[in-house]
Amino acid sequence: MTKFKTTSVCAAMAMFSAVSVSYGAGDDAIKEAMKGGFKGDTSLAKLASEGKATKEDIAKLKAYVESLVKAKPPVGDDASWKEKTEALTKAVAALETGAADAPKTFEAAANCKACHEVHKPKKK
Ligand code: HEC
Repeated sequence: MTKFKTTSVCAAMAMFSAVSVSYGAGDDAIKEAMKGGFKGDTSLAKLASEGKATKEDIAKLKAYVESLVKAKPPVGDDASWKEKTEALTKAVAALETGAADAPKTFEAAANCKACHEVHKPKKK
């Protein structure tokens, strides 16, 4: 029983550190954010675009967006990255206030293709 508890505490801590490691610069932070917050049909970003994100989801999304803001894109210029990640920051702030049009704003800011075309390295 005690062993079980220790394990789950460790798992929780590992999850936390995975998120906090993604703070700071580096493309790994971007990958972490993409996998943890953007990828898939039930991702935080998807939920947020559909207006289904809970307060907790929004808080997690905010942490990912903050790590994106601090990260340096592997390709594309910094000004463009700044513009895109700042739009995401504003959209998350709108989600926090519960504004009716926030999901739409977020969906526009989290335009996967628009950002990938400029900042995601092309597969060779
Ligand atoms: C603000 C820019 C931006 C937005 C918006 C964005 N992405 Fe990304 N994404 C990136 C960058 C940059 C990379 C490349 C990271 C690298 O290779 O270091 C990436 C990589 C990825 C990857 C590959 C991760 C890996 O492990 O290599 C997936 C999956 C992904 N994005 C999904 C999404 C989805 C789905 C959306 C939309 C809901 C989205 N992204 C929106 C910037 C963005």
